[in-house]
Parts: sequence; structure tokens; C-alpha cells
Amino acid sequence: MDIDLVVKGGTVVTAADVTRCDVGISGGRIVALADGLTGKTQVDATGLLVLPGGIDAHCHLAQQVEPGVEMADGFESGTRSAACGGTTTVISFAAQQRGATLREAVEEYHRKADDSALIDYGFHMIITDPTPAVLHEELPRLVSEGYTSFKIYMTYEDLKLDDRQIIECLAAARATGARTMIHAENSDCISWLTEVLEAAGQTAPRYHASSRPPLVEREATHRAISLAELIDVSVLIVHVSGAEAIEQIRWGQARGLDIHAETCPQYLFLTADDLDRDGFEGAKYVCSPPPRDAANQEAVWTALRTGVLDVFSSDHAPFRFNDPAGKMANGVDADFADIPNGIPGLETRMALLFSAGVMTGRISLSQFVALTSTTPAEIYGLRPRKGSIAIGGDADIGLWDPEAKWTVSNDLLHHAVDYTPYEGQQLQGRCVTTFSRGVAVWDDGKVLGAPGHGQFLRRSTTGNMIPTGGTR
Ligand code: URP
Ligand code: ZN
Ligand code: ZN
Repeated sequence: MDIDLVVKGGTVVTAADVTRCDVGISGGRIVALADGLTGKTQVDATGLLVLPGGIDAHCHLAQQVEPGVEMADGFESGTRSAACGGTTTVISFAAQQRGATLREAVEEYHRKADDSALIDYGFHMIITDPTPAVLHEELPRLVSEGYTSFKIYMTYEDLKLDDRQIIECLAAARATGARTMIHAENSDCISWLTEVLEAAGQTAPRYHASSRPPLVEREATHRAISLAELIDVSVLIVHVSGAEAIEQIRWGQARGLDIHAETCPQYLFLTADDLDRDGFEGAKYVCSPPPRDAANQEAVWTALRTGVLDVFSSDHAPFRFNDPAGKMANGVDADFADIPNGIPGLETRMALLFSAGVMTGRISLSQFVALTSTTPAEIYGLRPRKGSIAIGGDADIGLWDPEAKWTVSNDLLHHAVDYTPYEGQQLQGRCVTTFSRGVAVWDDGKVLGAPGHGQFLRRSTTGNMIPTGGTR
């Protein structure tokens, strides 16, 4: 067989197996897995792990938030940064403006992404205005074109849906096979708590955590799962922060409901104490739900290990710190409620989990692959093209050096944000080379990828409307 490129002598890891073999790549696809392969070009992977490229299924790029505030990363810097951390696919968001159509949103985000992305990408839609026309005319068409998932919010004034609207969205998801992602926090609890805190003059960044305690997330998570049971449809709860929400998810799963759930690095590596750093520094850690405490971090580790949480994403929402269009949009004394929500994490997502998860023995190598690549591929309709190292699949591969010791520093990262929340974290394990469809986009500390290499991914539906025999 005439093979373009052979990755030789590495340890190939999938969600099921850890095997020593060579990987043969032609035309951007994996064409052979065997010993002793030869190709026109060869890469020596001795001592390295050969992992499926990461799939970051929750990241915000070039997303419009509010007037005067800008995300630091668009599709070029965001996907560059992702690639340097071993990620080869991002699923970002196309956010519907109220009063506008989903189609307009999708077209707008294509304009932002199509000539810019260095790696492959898809879009989840964000539904903020679920009119009958949106749900019954637009959504089915867009799902058939490969936009097979959407996110809905239970909080944020300009995004949130009420229960009746959520029910309508879930019914539309069931009818179309679309995957629903839910941001589960109780909006009324947050607004009441915020008013109480503000009336008491408690407006520093640390009160962001007080305004969104675990109960707020727990209640909304329970409600989201109950509404999904009513419609008998699968849902995915995004950015789960700790024990109380996990308890609800475990409850739903034990009931036989098809509930998936995601967590993110901020819930393993940060705590509410980070929001209490000197001066306005705490603003760097403002994200929702907020980071909790050490006991909640342990609960998240346990849920990752036991499969209650099955997807690990970054929720990269990049705002520069020292910038009037970023975290300081409302000044350096801004009320916590006026600090743009979100933190960066595309490039550090995999290395953080690898180091603190795999290298400590908390999760296995195959669990790492499942959480960061295979399961998101499955849930979001990218299989069999993405998410594994298998013949016929795209040659999206990260070569990882499990011995590499390094310290996270913003200087080493490739996003356009002026800080990383993980500054100073000492890690073991690093992606040294990233291939996107067989093309090296990151190698030995150098970015080799070019804007426009990334292709839009039409995704399939994943059978989430199969009735479980629930209450509907
Ligand atoms: O604070 C966060 N998570 N910002 C990003 C938007 C979202 O809700 O995921
Ligand atoms: Zn969210
Ligand atoms: Zn998000």
C-alpha cells in the first residue's frame, strides 16, 4: 500500500484500547493500523502517546455578548490556540438574536469562521427566541443541514427561556433529533440574591459566587431533567460545577433517563477563593456557574471517573482582563453582576485533565480519550469521522509526551487573552504535535497550521429521540 504518512512506534490510545502500532495516513484519513508500516513520510513517535485529536464541544468564539464588550478570540486565534493544546475540532456557537432567525445566526458565524479556522469546526445554535416558525420550520431544515444541536439558557436576561419555552424546545428536539444543551441556573434566585447583595454593598467579584450558590444550579438541573423526562428526550447539562448538580444528574440517570453532562477545567482547578483575589483580580475568574470549593472539586473528579459526567469541555469564553472591552468593560470597581462572564481555556483543557487526571491515576488513559474526544464525537454526531483512531476516520491526532513537565504561563499560550486562570499550574504531559486531517498544525513549539484549513463539519443526529418509555 502507498501511504502518505506513517506515525511510527507510538502507543495508540482509544476509548477502548491501548496498543503499540504504527498509524498509516493517506488523503487525510487513517488507512492502516499495523506494525512495520512504511510511508512517503514518517514521524517517529517512540515514547509518545498517539491520541485522537481533542474535541472541544463547548467554546465561544467571536460571539457577540453585549454592546461595548468583545470576545478576545475569533476563529483564527481560538482554533490556533486549541490546536496547540491537542484539540482538532471545536464546536462553537451561533447565537440567535431575539427577533432574528436561526438562519441569520448561522450565516453570521459562517462569515466569521469559514476562512479563519485552522482546525475543523461546527456550530451549536443558541435559541433565544423559540417562535413556532423557528422551532417548526427553521430548526428541522438546519438540523438536516448538519446543525444538529442547540443550547438553551435558564438564566441571563437576554438569553433565558421560561419553562414553557424550554418544553417547546425539547419537543422540537425530540421531533428533529437535535441534541439540547442546557445552561441550568435559576434566574430568579440569581436576580433576587444579586439585589440583596447589592443592597448590602457586597459588589466585589467574590460576591459573584454568593449570587449563584449550588442550590441555584441544583434546582435548575432538577427542573431541566424533569422537563426532559416529560418530553422523553435526551438532554446534556453543560458546565456542571459540583456535588449538588451531580446528585440530580445521577438521580436522573438512575431513573433510566438519557442524561448527559459536561464539566470543565474551572470546576477541577479553581475555587471561589480565586474570585477573592486582590483588587479586581477576582474578575479573571468570573464565570457561571462559579467555581466552588475543594469538596466540590472532588465530587467532580468522582463523577468523571464513574461516568456520571461524560464530556469534558473548556467553555472557553475569552475576555481580556486589562481591556475596556473585556473584564474591565464597566471599570475596575465594577459590580460583580456587570463583569463579563467567562474564562479562557481552549489550549489548557486537555493538558490539565491529562496531568491531574491520568498522571495521578484518577482516570485511565482511555477515560481521558473518551471524555475529551470520543464521547463528544458520539453525542454531537461526529462519529465515525472524528473521535477515535480507526481506519477510515479523519487523521486528527495528538502526539503526547507523558514525561514532559511544564508550567502553565500565558506567555506560552496562543489565545488572544492577556491572562490564563491556570497561570503557574505545574503539569506533566503535553501535546507536542497535532495533526488535523493528516496535516501538522502544531509541532515542537511551532504553529504550522494556516487559517482556512479548518472545514465546517455537518453533523448527524444521534438517535436522542428514541423513547425510553418515560411519562410522555
Ligand atoms: O460564564 C460562562 N460560562 N460564560 C460563557 C457562557 C456560558 O454560559 O456558557
Ligand atoms: Zn452556559
Ligand atoms: Zn459556555
